Amino acid sequence: METKIVICQGSSCFSRGNKQNLAVIQNYLKNNNLMADVSFKGQLCSNKCDVSPIIIINGEIFTEMDEPKTLKILAAHFKK
Ligand code: FES
Repeated sequence: METKIVICQGSSCFSRGNKQNLAVIQNYLKNNNLMADVSFKGQLCSNKCDVSPIIIINGEIFTEMDEPKTLKILAAHFKK
């Protein structure tokens, strides 16, 4: 099944870490040859700035994302 990753690019999320998280995810997908299995897109403020930055994977919202957390969640998601 295709994985849908949505990254919030509203100003709060973006300035609090999603700028780096975006690069982290892109590198991870590239390095693991996963680009074809993933639809990856940004969206505007998701109304959860209080727990930003947020990333949504297949409808599940992950909050307060930083680089280690992002890598951990990606690894858990894709090692099936
Ligand atoms: S900027 Fe991401 S939830 Fe508001």
